[in-house]
Amino acid sequence: MDPLLEERRYLIPFRSSLLPQIFTDTLVIGSGVAGMRAAIAASGHGEVIVLAKGALRNTNTAWAQGGVAVVLGESDSFASHIADTHAAGAGLCDDGIVRRVVEGGPSALEELLSWGLRVDREADGTIARGREGGHSESRIVHRDGDATGRAISECLHARMVSTANVRVFEGCFALDLLTPSRESGSPVMGAITHHPRYGLQIVWAKATIVATGGAGVLYRETTNPPEATADGQAMAYRAGATLSDMAFMQFHPTTLYLPGAHRALITEAIRGEGAVLLDASHHRFMPEVHELGDLAPRDIVSRAIVQRIARQGGRHVWLDCRGVTDFAGRFPGIARTLAQFDLDGSKDLIPVHPAAHYMIGGVRTDAFGRSDVPGLYAAGEAACTGLHGANRLASNSLLEGLVTGAMAGEACAEMLGASNAWGVPTRSAPAKVISDIPTSDHGELDLDDVRSSLRSAMWRNVGIERTGAKLNDVRDMFDFWSRYTLDKIFDEPEGWEVQNMLLTGALIARSAAWREESRGCHWRDDFPAAREEFRVHDGWKRGMDTPRAEAVLSSVR
Ligand code: FAD
Ligand code: SIN
Repeated sequence: MDPLLEERRYLIPFRSSLLPQIFTDTLVIGSGVAGMRAAIAASGHGEVIVLAKGALRNTNTAWAQGGVAVVLGESDSFASHIADTHAAGAGLCDDGIVRRVVEGGPSALEELLSWGLRVDREADGTIARGREGGHSESRIVHRDGDATGRAISECLHARMVSTANVRVFEGCFALDLLTPSRESGSPVMGAITHHPRYGLQIVWAKATIVATGGAGVLYRETTNPPEATADGQAMAYRAGATLSDMAFMQFHPTTLYLPGAHRALITEAIRGEGAVLLDASHHRFMPEVHELGDLAPRDIVSRAIVQRIARQGGRHVWLDCRGVTDFAGRFPGIARTLAQFDLDGSKDLIPVHPAAHYMIGGVRTDAFGRSDVPGLYAAGEAACTGLHGANRLASNSLLEGLVTGAMAGEACAEMLGASNAWGVPTRSAPAKVISDIPTSDHGELDLDDVRSSLRSAMWRNVGIERTGAKLNDVRDMFDFWSRYTLDKIFDEPEGWEVQNMLLTGALIARSAAWREESRGCHWRDDFPAAREEFRVHDGWKRGMDTPRAEAVLSSVR
């Protein structure tokens, strides 16, 4: 990897002692399901600051549609949900965390209900449950059909802001995690932030939780909101944390594919209610591809779609929802989105295309959100706990955010209370942090162009179907672009985001090139089978050319 990608410790030059200082016990970067749940848990044990780089509700969480997977009722069992999670994860799920998250589902839902969440119910009052790909039971709990994420987000937000000790900084961008030195093992002590009104600030914290969500925006086609630029993964890497399983980006098979429409997700739950995929000749093709037909795992459906599109000379495929009972009543949000483009799902075929959806890799943590850097925790999509293995089971991530967010918040609280907490003395700066970056003599940069070139390159070369040659090309490209992009000092989030995207994109490409096999959502045309020697987590740390291979765990770390 280019030295600039490897060595640049901070995005900007600064001297901590010259900037305004804020102190807290726990700093949570991110206001999605994981960040808010973590903040609520940590607030019982000290002061908490929550950062959101945009509006508080601009999160993947608020966009979640299908629902949250929870085992309820006698027809379902933990064993079945655990087995489905492992089957999707293709041999890479760590069993201990799978059990914890699945078994934590009913109480996490119960807690949300006690905090005022309403969910859809059957006529007899029991909780309604939908079905999604890879699940052998109907266990997806939803709200207003396809607005589950927004409802969970609002419920957690109401709870969080009514909790004493929590302060929320909206529109506040975290640039980097602070460590007193560059040495390995140097603890994280908070973050340097930027707010359009208050400028740069230092937030000192005894514990810092990265809950910054995913990386979908690295790809030209994505279901994610514009905030999902992998800042948390990039800043944790720069601070010395291990990032694991970065090759595994999950692609969602069905997003609305119309010029002018953003790639709005068409929830898999629709296929759970009977919708089917058709090729350009209106022929159902999924039953020929997999025994689960249209509800096959996402990687298989996504690959089948891109192959079909190639065979049809680039023409897209269709989602046929005409067989879904009460389409607009069951999926009102999607019906509204379609209506904006003069489409009626109960009558018209919907043009669809896969898009980057969920980042499985991230900051390697144990079940309690602890990274391998003291003081640094991660939760939700930014983390890699080993729950999802090589492919995430649908609707397991809201659940993940609830359970692992709470565990990370509790773990911080526990650490704060422990006598061996390395600690930031209250209200005085624990260290001087100085970042010096040499000035560059390279000229101006068209940031929008770098951003869109990067997203196209990721889609083309690190997308649904990969080869060693395409991955090597993109790594060379990113190394070259880094030389005149990472030497710049920007003063706005747009620049910092592109720098983070470049670093994280390079790590995804690096992990995908190393993984000479096909497993879960990582497909290599040149290595089309899974290989036992790659049934490991690949962990990448600053300064290492090759990953540290970590065995798949059968119990909690
Ligand atoms: P997010 O909810 O993405 O929150 C990230 C937060 O980090 C935001 O507040 C953002 O502002 C903040 N942030 C990021 N960078 C910075 C920075 N530099 N400084 C300050 N703040 C920063 N999962 C399911 O289980 N069921 C579903 O039905 C489902 N449907 C989905 C539908 C869509 C369209 C999408 C995109 C995802 C869906 N998912 C679903 C996945 C799920 O929504 C996410 O994985 C999950 O919500 C991630 O939560 P999070 O808390 O980790 O991150
Ligand atoms: C969907 O509703 O299809 C998305 C569910 C998920 O990503 O978990």
